[in-house]
Amino acid sequence: MSTHVATMLTRPAGASTGPQVRPLASALGAEIIGLNLATHLTHDSVQLVLDSLHRHGVVVVRDQKLTPDQQTAFMEKLGPIKKSSYSRANSFCVPGYPDMMVISNIVENGRNIGLMDAGAMWHADGTHLAQPDMYTALYALEVPHRDGKPLGDTLFTSTAEAYDALPDALRQRIAGRKAVHSFTHHIEKKRRLGDLRRPPLTEAQKAEVPDVEHPIVTTHPVTGRKNLFVTEGHTARIVGLPEAESEALLEELWAHIRKPEFIYRHSWRVGDLLIWDNRATQHLAIFDYGDLRRRMHRLETVGPVPT
Ligand code: SIN
Repeated sequence: MSTHVATMLTRPAGASTGPQVRPLASALGAEIIGLNLATHLTHDSVQLVLDSLHRHGVVVVRDQKLTPDQQTAFMEKLGPIKKSSYSRANSFCVPGYPDMMVISNIVENGRNIGLMDAGAMWHADGTHLAQPDMYTALYALEVPHRDGKPLGDTLFTSTAEAYDALPDALRQRIAGRKAVHSFTHHIEKKRRLGDLRRPPLTEAQKAEVPDVEHPIVTTHPVTGRKNLFVTEGHTARIVGLPEAESEALLEELWAHIRKPEFIYRHSWRVGDLLIWDNRATQHLAIFDYGDLRRRMHRLETVGPVPT
């Protein structure tokens, strides 16, 4: 079910006016223009976003002007909002909004106002949880530029396209297998790679997020497509395989997942509300902007147990 980049904008069936959806890359990604989620948070608007998400995996609603309350109101329509004790404990949340994480490199009064190393490795959000995040919405308030060019892009890959293109032999090797996802492993790997720019986990934080097992191949509950559900960031090992074999197989799967043909690269504009489906995509943040200011607000919804 590969989508193809259309040159024409499309409207929802039967509509002659209103918001338009335009695919942005062949594997995944679309933009919606002409939709104001602050003033038109209607059933039809939400349905358009959801349909576009299920078709394209990642969707940018352009030109938004959202307060934290408005971003929350939109996200509540997509599902129950994830409660983030991590954000609260580290004071990375938007003041007064304990579940809304600030993603930023900005330092004020000697402290980072938000999480400054999110997305340094390919991952889907919350796979280290028994119920990983379903949708994430990241809202751009400040986007760094150099010589007129936006920096701090985010890359997305389609894990459904990646699964479909998997060689048969590799498919057979992973069929029915599970993998361990671990937040402790994630933070330790980030530290080893020199990418950790937040405080290490306390013992209490580690205890809050015990390792979990998920199938390596999951089925998306809405689209019915199969997806590769192992990430460079959070997957520690494959259950039941010797360590070296597990590592080699994971490396092979990760190399496959990040092939250029499955990728959409998002260049940010202020006012972008970028929403992605963590059950069908993985993402990677590009840290090419140094101290140039970048500031985003992130919310997630809780998903079902992956099967
Ligand atoms: C994330 O991984 O949640 C953040 C992505 C980004 O900042 O581009």
